[in-house]
Amino acid sequence: MLDTESIRKDFPFLRQGCIYLDSTATSLTPEPVLNKMLEYYREYRANIERGIYKAAQIATDAFEGARAEIARLINAKPEEIILVRNTSEGINLVASGQGLKKGDRVVTTILEHHSNFIVWLRARKRVGAEVKVVMSDGEGFLDLSDFERAINGRTRLVAVTHTSNVLGVRPPVKEIVKMAHDKGALVLVDGAQSVPHTKVDVKALGCDFLAFSGHKMCGPTGAGALYIREDLQEKIEPLCIGGGTIEDVGIDHYRLRQGPSRYEAGTPAIAEVIGMGAAASYLMEIGMPNIAAHDASLTKKVLEGLQEVPSLTLYGPKDPRKRAGIFSFNLGRFHPHDLAVALDAAAGVMVRSGHHCALPLHKHILKLDSGTVRASVYLYNTEQDVEVLLSALSEISKTML
Ligand code: ALA
Repeated sequence: MLDTESIRKDFPFLRQGCIYLDSTATSLTPEPVLNKMLEYYREYRANIERGIYKAAQIATDAFEGARAEIARLINAKPEEIILVRNTSEGINLVASGQGLKKGDRVVTTILEHHSNFIVWLRARKRVGAEVKVVMSDGEGFLDLSDFERAINGRTRLVAVTHTSNVLGVRPPVKEIVKMAHDKGALVLVDGAQSVPHTKVDVKALGCDFLAFSGHKMCGPTGAGALYIREDLQEKIEPLCIGGGTIEDVGIDHYRLRQGPSRYEAGTPAIAEVIGMGAAASYLMEIGMPNIAAHDASLTKKVLEGLQEVPSLTLYGPKDPRKRAGIFSFNLGRFHPHDLAVALDAAAGVMVRSGHHCALPLHKHILKLDSGTVRASVYLYNTEQDVEVLLSALSEISKTML
């Protein structure tokens, strides 16, 4: 079990007494991560992979140490981790780098966040790639037989989320990877909502690419990671090239380096990457299975409680074993934004409202153009946070509907 009481002391933002239930949008940042970033600015503020003076060496070692910690979090090799700004940039890198051509097929799903959806629509517009969208049922479950039909001999890539940021459902990614590989396609997993909450092991999953963000795993904004299986790196073109990416340049030629630096043009977000590495260490120290168990116990409580609130419609599976700690709902005829404002004003509860960057899912599965209200839990949330949310919702339901 987590020692939530002592974990909460690490998060200065919580000292304001708010109830933060929006970690799916972005997580809070603990002191050890903040300190690591300040240490860089205060003690060894130099560029990386360039200077040979001592501070530059310390900065390079800290940056590469962060890469190693991020790799360890997902059981990858450091050479397989490309440091990017966020999940979206990682997905864009794969989308533009694999040289899709007219007639190539990309299979994705209706559950996806826009980052893992519009890039494929753009590939259709730009090069004539074919995009096949696998639909879910009303709760967000995907059927493997639909993938069996969708993945054909022309399929270059299957791009699928590991956890829906709206319904909390977790697609059967391992099975999808096996099916895709049997048919010669690669698999990109959007790990934005899974890597922060559970043990993700890229080798066990077998995926070819995995994108995730630092800011959703207790790290800072502006740093993210893309895992690219080592043997694929030569085949994926960088999104940007420039300083730091080349082996040799002449007046009429250039040769790119091997390894992650091939993709990391220009001075990166040094402090933020160091912060993301510290966040990976922080989470591993607490233990990903412990974090997952804590999420699961709060999930059970939230699901039971939400179903007791009069006039509340909860979307996604009702069985806590079948979803992560992400809960989208509506209350009576309340507009989602009005309800989110009311929760903040009445009880200091912070939740997201709207379509959560997943319009296709809201339009085609939930049939809700104005969206939903979404609460989500993480390692610093308590049963009391959940009780405040539930009683605020019940109160609003009784007095304002
Ligand atoms: N992907 C983030 C969310 O779901 C931004 O809120």
